[in-house]
Amino acid sequence: MFERLERVPDDPILGLMAAYRADSSPSKVDLGVGVYRDQRGETPVLEAVRAAERALLEGQTTKSYVAPAGNPAFNQAMERLTFGSAHPALAAGRVRTIQGVGGCGALRLGAELIRTASPDSVLYVSTPTWANHVPLLSGCGLVLERYPYYDPASGGVRAEAMLSAIDALPAGSALLLHASCHNPTGADLSESHWRSILEIVRRRRLLPFIDMAYQGLGSGIEEDAFGIRLFAAELPELLVAVSCSKNFGLYRERAGALHIVSESAQASQAALSHQVRIARRLYSMPPDHGAAIVNRILSDETLSATWRRELEEMRRRIVALRQQLVRALAEACPRSDFGFIATQRGMFSFLGITPEQVRALRAEHHVYMTEDSRINVAGLRSENVEYFARAVAQVV
Ligand code: LMR
Repeated sequence: MFERLERVPDDPILGLMAAYRADSSPSKVDLGVGVYRDQRGETPVLEAVRAAERALLEGQTTKSYVAPAGNPAFNQAMERLTFGSAHPALAAGRVRTIQGVGGCGALRLGAELIRTASPDSVLYVSTPTWANHVPLLSGCGLVLERYPYYDPASGGVRAEAMLSAIDALPAGSALLLHASCHNPTGADLSESHWRSILEIVRRRRLLPFIDMAYQGLGSGIEEDAFGIRLFAAELPELLVAVSCSKNFGLYRERAGALHIVSESAQASQAALSHQVRIARRLYSMPPDHGAAIVNRILSDETLSATWRRELEEMRRRIVALRQQLVRALAEACPRSDFGFIATQRGMFSFLGITPEQVRALRAEHHVYMTEDSRINVAGLRSENVEYFARAVAQVV
């Protein structure tokens, strides 16, 4: 049976990881996959994670099953982190949470729920959006369409075009938004954009589905959740997929969650029962280890403080790298303007160069990025920012 299968191309992001690993050049630079790297170029295990893991190993008494909805204490801790513990939607019991297999698993659960509740609804995603959003979300049969988002001329959001496109969507459509650190552009919605979208979503009766994979890495833990908290307070329904991969550095542990916000506690509970059934059919239960670590951190004041400090250090490093990169590019390429990189947030920015130039950077300078010229700023080190800027100057 398998003889009939032809090889499919590598994933555009994950394929780069393998190519980078195979490159033996000492000056190679990995700006491909979105993982945080520290000044030594490493993706460290956070101190708070190590301490939580040690405590877990000592205290864990069983490896028996948890449940299809995952670890309830983790789910509640994530609700407080996402919405803020005093949020009225939590007090009203309008939020129910299911643990996901990472943020990707949570996204897929959200797509499956939309498909279950409203099979004909179309999900609209930004142009561009994270490369894996499309196969991940449409894989359950949900139809995906696009709305305009990024303005390459300014490095910001095409606000007018975006708002009028959203205003023309059929009632009952779902709208995927990035909470912060837009992947792949780094161009985030401002508070005023969120308020304008809120008005349209309410008027046109759309379902917002917010992906928050980078809480704390953009402007701060609370700031990055602004849109989610506003929408949960003002709208009857909302889906939120969150990931602990980047902000807890738990990539391979696959910890994430899907929050379902409905008009009433009863409706949320009913939606959750469908989610549990969907999870059971797809993979039965999520892995526990990452969720148990996050729960341990968030339920312990000292560990929480350590984690918040470490997260803030990561965020500040990315902001400083962005500024350093803009200075280095201004010097190396005086005729191009890369100033937008310092106005963007999170790990990613688009350089705005052609696929041929991207390939030349890789072949001639051992610099790796996706073909659309997305760079993971956190993959730079202050020592190689200038090397990278000079390499860009040579190919553009
Ligand atoms: C990325 O965008 O590079 C990350 O989210 C990792 C991935 O799975 O693609």
